[in-house]
Amino acid sequence: MRHLTEYFDRQAQELLLAEILKVIEGAPLFTPTMPRTGKSFSVRMSNCGPLGWVSDKTRGYRYQEAHPDTGKPWPDMPKILLDLWDDVSVYHARPEACLINVYDAHAKMGLHRDEDEDDFSAPVISVSLGDTALFRIGGLARKNPTRSFDLKSGDVLVLGGDTRLAFHGVDRIKTGASDLLGDQFPEGGRINLTLRRVTKP
Ligand code: SIN
Ligand code: FE2
Repeated sequence: MRHLTEYFDRQAQELLLAEILKVIEGAPLFTPTMPRTGKSFSVRMSNCGPLGWVSDKTRGYRYQEAHPDTGKPWPDMPKILLDLWDDVSVYHARPEACLINVYDAHAKMGLHRDEDEDDFSAPVISVSLGDTALFRIGGLARKNPTRSFDLKSGDVLVLGGDTRLAFHGVDRIKTGASDLLGDQFPEGGRINLTLRRVTKP
């Protein structure tokens, strides 16, 4: 695991946010639901890149080429994210999916592993924008001890090697930490982007 604090400075965060808001115009946020129970996630999602991660009651967790509501292909991945991948991934092929997680002030994400990809040799690279998240990470089994730390706006987290399949989640959002999202989230909020390689190149 590598935590690159303030990888993106304020200006780069603003540029990246503008790109992501453009993506969301073309691929509107949707609320995924849990397999079987159909319970809604507290985060809303979208994606960019050739593949997007989606989930619903009947078909469960998966990647697909089209937006679940509009049926349209996902927008292209912004160059700034491809450059990030080239800079930190140490991997020989491009990412295929960028999952966009939008947290309002009360959203959180339970402990889980990112395991819907065919290729675990590529890292998962995440970018945080807006309010701080209290992020939790454990080991390869759900029962392993965990620890938590803050992910702040502009931070990049790389889960690779032994940590690629570690359990992780977001306990809560610390509102008031950043004004980056400003008008979009008057009560506070956070956007997290995760870049993934899905198929084996
Ligand atoms: C995720 O695990 O998909 C999101 C993690 C985060 O929001 O930092
Ligand atoms: Fe995850």
